[in-house]
Amino acid sequence: MAELVISSRGRAPEGVLIPPPDKSISHRALLGALLALGTTTVVGCSRALDVEATRRAIAALGAAVRVVDGTTLEIRGVGPTGVVEPDEVIDVGNSGTLARLVLGVATLVPGMVVVTGDASVRRRPMDRVVLPLRALGATIRARWGDRRLPAVVVGSRIRGGVQTLPVPSAQVKSALLLAGLGASEPLTVVEPVPTRPHTEELLETLGLRVERATLPEGQHMVRLTPGTPRTPGTVRVLGDPSAAAFFVAAAAATPGARLEVRGLYLGPTRTGFVEVLRRMGGEIELLGHETLVVRGSSLRGTTVGASEVPSLIDEVPALAVAFALARGESRLSGAEELRVKESDRIETTAAMLRAFGATVTTTHDGLTVHSGAGRSRGTLTVDSGADHRIAMSAAVLACALGQAARVQGAEWIATSYPGFLDDLVRLCAVEAEMVEGR
Ligand code: S3P
Repeated sequence: MAELVISSRGRAPEGVLIPPPDKSISHRALLGALLALGTTTVVGCSRALDVEATRRAIAALGAAVRVVDGTTLEIRGVGPTGVVEPDEVIDVGNSGTLARLVLGVATLVPGMVVVTGDASVRRRPMDRVVLPLRALGATIRARWGDRRLPAVVVGSRIRGGVQTLPVPSAQVKSALLLAGLGASEPLTVVEPVPTRPHTEELLETLGLRVERATLPEGQHMVRLTPGTPRTPGTVRVLGDPSAAAFFVAAAAATPGARLEVRGLYLGPTRTGFVEVLRRMGGEIELLGHETLVVRGSSLRGTTVGASEVPSLIDEVPALAVAFALARGESRLSGAEELRVKESDRIETTAAMLRAFGATVTTTHDGLTVHSGAGRSRGTLTVDSGADHRIAMSAAVLACALGQAARVQGAEWIATSYPGFLDDLVRLCAVEAEMVEGR
């Protein structure tokens, strides 16, 4: 266990932020490189622990991985028919995304693949991916009535066909599409609302035929025609909006702050938090395609409902920081998926805000911030709930308030944002250190 100790001399983030490479896209770039024929150079790959687990997984499945420098990797792929049976269990660590995606890839392996993860991932629902893969013809079993890792996949490519997902999940859609590379006929995945399209975009980059359409009832469909993926040569990963969101939210909610975020991925379904902050009165401007300029102002509370949730699912703890700094009440609903993230994020977000003096109530699918956070004397203690996003939200909120704080369980930050402490110290002009062993 590590504690992030933050002094009372912080301020809201100011200056220029180059966020870490996008985690979702990095996972997919690595898996795509494994499944493509030829050598792929991934430039600007995330060094988050979650993505390191993906790097180990693709090596175990047959890719030759050479690290050119810290964030540039050269990967010789094997194609969907060349993936090999790993010698060992695949350990996804804390990564729910890798857990789901690799189960899809495992259907391509002529042999047996066992997938497990840390205690948090082993509590997360896997039936959402196990059941549709099985319905498409895979031989797959998981612990606890198919609901939990470990899971076992035994050499069984899927048929094609149509799968309609009950829960909007980019991870499940991606697992099916990756499995679809081995299908005997085209595979169509229908999702209730559009989720992040990184896997579809990647498969297109690899030269495959992917059709996408919005259906009359608002659902979204992706149709993959199986084929041989070929490397595009280089895949470049832009900055992670979900990592930038902590600093953006705290800056937007603090009058006088000015923050510029460069090199950011701002594609569809990832910027819902920017829309919400703007609705709260936030001054956030897009410069070109990859830069956001944030000018801090006094925000007012807002309401966020189910239709917006898929576009900001990972940004709720960061948005909660803005809720706690705003005037008036803010309410979130339709977000029951947060209960099965790295922590029960409805409860851990509420507990984090309460530690800063906010009045928060929770419901089965959301929360209401009735009154905001304030500065208090002495040093606050906040628990991350073993969740990287809660730890980072607490840290930026402490800085924005000039509040001394100890964030317990801060070691989880490295699962997504290993450079967070450096960026916090620089942008918030604060003394902060990671203290091990508490
Ligand atoms: C992700 C999808 C989302 C998100 C997760 C990353 C992805 O999960 O919360 O952090 O990379 O596909 P769900 O698919 O469960 O919505």
